[in-house]
Amino acid sequence: MTRPLLEIEGLSKSFGGVAAVDRVSLALEPGRIYGLIGPNGSGKTTLFHCVTGVERRDAGRVRFNGERIDGLEPHAIARRGIGRTFQIIRVFPELTALENLLVVTRGSLAGAEARARELLRFVKLDGLVHEYAGNLSYGQQRLVEFVRVLMRDPSLILLDEPAAGVNRTLLNDLLEAVRRLRDDGKTILLVEHDMKVVMGLCETVFVLDHGEKIAEGPPGVIQADERVIEAYFGR
Ligand SMILES: Nc1ncnc2c1ncn2[C@@H]1O[C@H](COP(=O)(O)OP(=O)(O)OP(=O)(O)O)[C@@H](O)[C@H]1O
Ligand SMILES: [Mg+2]
Repeated sequence: MTRPLLEIEGLSKSFGGVAAVDRVSLALEPGRIYGLIGPNGSGKTTLFHCVTGVERRDAGRVRFNGERIDGLEPHAIARRGIGRTFQIIRVFPELTALENLLVVTRGSLAGAEARARELLRFVKLDGLVHEYAGNLSYGQQRLVEFVRVLMRDPSLILLDEPAAGVNRTLLNDLLEAVRRLRDDGKTILLVEHDMKVVMGLCETVFVLDHGEKIAEGPPGVIQADERVIEAYFGR
């Protein structure tokens, strides 16, 4: 096994009496696409928050490239090469698509603009660079948010339900972009409810239920796993 890019060990986070993430351990190898699934409220977003420093974990260790990152501030974690999107879309409607990408830049604006345009082309939004984000369709806004994450060239990309509410054509553009990132050596962990998307994209899937990791494996095996079926349908 290659050295993991991200290694989570015994991660826990509670809110009041609720164990949102409960002693979760998992490892991500570089250059792969992983899925994180589980019923509503099973802790997927909280796990993202803990990895990216948005929430303080209660217990456990997170290593990125072999170094501890738990306890670091979100901006410090982002600078090390972890990018993420949020479940609730976060674009600036009163800025153009291009400006939405430029807000995250530091340093040379000319270089940043060239990169922003290239990224918008990457998801076929090059005809809409000067359109206000608020005028874009929901799916297009999702794509803008997705490529904004890529402005800093992260090696690990966490996507929280990127396909939700995105029409089929734009979804295909998104899936194609995710595969190309993987082919470039990036690692992607995505939360997704649509099993067709998970099956078609992910090499390994982790399943959470009530904050605990109950299964891990190839999507075909996961779909037939009794604990997983129980978690989704058995209540
Ligand atoms: N800030 C918070 N304060 C209190 N409870 C929270 C908070 N954030 C999450 N929780 C609780 O933690 C649990 C896990 O929530 P989380 O949002 O991580 O689940 P999820 O798997 O992302 O769900 P969904 O599929 O609906 O997005 C839930 O019981 C939720 O109510
Ligand atoms: Mg969530």
